[in-house]
Amino acid sequence: MNQFACEVRSGLAKPQKELPSKYLYDELGSALFDAITALPEYGLTRADRRILNRHAVDLPRDFACVAEFGSGSGSKTRAILEAIAPKTYFPIDVSPAALDRCTRELCGMAHIQPIEDSFLEGLDRVREAQESGALLLLFLGSTLGNFDSRCRNDFLQQVRLRMRSGDAMLIGLDLVKPLETMLDAYDDPTGVTAAFNLNLLGRINRELGGDFDIRAFAHHALYNETDRRIEMHLRSRINQTVTVTEADFHCRFRADETIWTESSHKFYADEIPEIAHATGFVSEALWVDEEWPFAESLWRAV
Ligand SMILES: C[S@@+](CC[C@H](N)C(=O)[O-])C[C@H]1O[C@@H](n2cnc3c(N)ncnc32)[C@H](O)[C@@H]1O
Repeated sequence: MNQFACEVRSGLAKPQKELPSKYLYDELGSALFDAITALPEYGLTRADRRILNRHAVDLPRDFACVAEFGSGSGSKTRAILEAIAPKTYFPIDVSPAALDRCTRELCGMAHIQPIEDSFLEGLDRVREAQESGALLLLFLGSTLGNFDSRCRNDFLQQVRLRMRSGDAMLIGLDLVKPLETMLDAYDDPTGVTAAFNLNLLGRINRELGGDFDIRAFAHHALYNETDRRIEMHLRSRINQTVTVTEADFHCRFRADETIWTESSHKFYADEIPEIAHATGFVSEALWVDEEWPFAESLWRAV
């Protein structure tokens, strides 16, 4: 049984059914995510781009190489590569479709070595391939917010262990803002985010021989105030049983029961240097967008 099948089986067997968000990004999912970034309700990408376009020139120039966690299509990375002119750029992403787009988008900006892998495994491969010089690791778009807050610092410490003194990470984090603005960003009236979320069931049907009736599920976004995160769920509209052949698994759903598919944690600007400090970094710069509260911070490994 492949890893996707194992994780679907174990995730759907939990009392709160869940699926890892990295599986949202097959070819169709990556295309739908790119469409989300153009939605008027999804201000994150535009805010991130405004900060990077304005402040890329303020970044130190001492990096021989740039790597990027979850590069997606890499459309915001151009300003950074222009400013730093690294020898090599390593986009790391689980989605081959995203890496193809990223490589085309940034062609000619550096020697591009795409790495199709998960974050830490991908960073290990960067370390094996990088001969010398300091590394700048990009983690844009608030993708760190997808981590459960209990696992987040462990993950950052694992990143830090793979970095050398003098390396740095540029990290983009979405900030707390009015409830309606946050909810609209994950539940747009056009239905693009709903399609992005429901595509995960389509992917299970296509790749694992599932028989999800996609029309029998609905996209649902909520703000969990206690944990300060938007949660995306897929809500079963009816009582139903689904079979996933490759996972050798039948799964019962009660009407209104949900599968939790993604979390997007929201941050306060003043906690960002504290998170850096707690995980072995020093925050050297913090820029906040004025239109859409979003922060980019440069963390140095010390
Ligand atoms: C929210 S998108 C952000 C894309 C881009 N960085 C941006 O800011 O617009 C997350 C990206 O991370 C990738 N991704 C998600 N989980 C991953 C994981 N565990 N390892 C590697 N890539 C992952 C997805 O395929 C997707 O391209």
